[in-house]
Amino acid sequence: MGTLGLFDDTEMDGVQALGPRACVLRGFARPVAGDLLSAIDEVARISAFRHLVTPGGYTMSVAMTNCGALGWTSDSRGYRYTAIDPETGEPWPAMPDALRRLAHDAAAAAGFERFEPDACLVNRYAPGTKLSLHQDKDERDLDAPIVSVSLGMPAVFLFGGLRRDDATAKVPLFHGDVAVWGAEDRLRYHGVMPLKDQPHPTLGSQRINLTFRKAG
Ligand code: SIN
Ligand code: FE2
Repeated sequence: MGTLGLFDDTEMDGVQALGPRACVLRGFARPVAGDLLSAIDEVARISAFRHLVTPGGYTMSVAMTNCGALGWTSDSRGYRYTAIDPETGEPWPAMPDALRRLAHDAAAAAGFERFEPDACLVNRYAPGTKLSLHQDKDERDLDAPIVSVSLGMPAVFLFGGLRRDDATAKVPLFHGDVAVWGAEDRLRYHGVMPLKDQPHPTLGSQRINLTFRKAG
């Protein structure tokens, strides 16, 4: 264990700015990736990954589950946060400490102190899976940042502007990278390009993304 406070159990390869209050912390989650993945396995044992249907009637290619007091979900009636997993009828699994701590520390490293997420959306991507350009705007608290952790196969993240038709930067995200965006960058459009099959040594042909928010 080091003595550098914030970076006690993390190490960084550098920070890539994506905007005034948006960045990628390269490799930030890599030292704790094993702990995160075992915690995600526990979560998925309680609330399994599922393919949600959008209000437009389209089945999402990304498989999702949640942990924390609130979980993001979608069906023909719309997008929303719920305290109960509609599949199990039970509360979403609690947010494991390893996840909460990583999200807090990554936010602080990106300049957002005291981030206390109450929702963690877990996205699972297979080869060919993509996530269309969207804004994260279903959260009540838009003052808190979004903290987004990449594990497993690499992906190309699209990071756009405040309007859907603004130009998008193509940002490669690798195992252990953490993207953080907040303040004036909080509502920027973003998405993920169709994943190439580039198997990861521990996760194989999968990518897991954790997206932490203050939703309630
Ligand atoms: C998301 O926008 O919810 C996920 C982004 C990602 O998978 O990197
Ligand atoms: Fe998003």
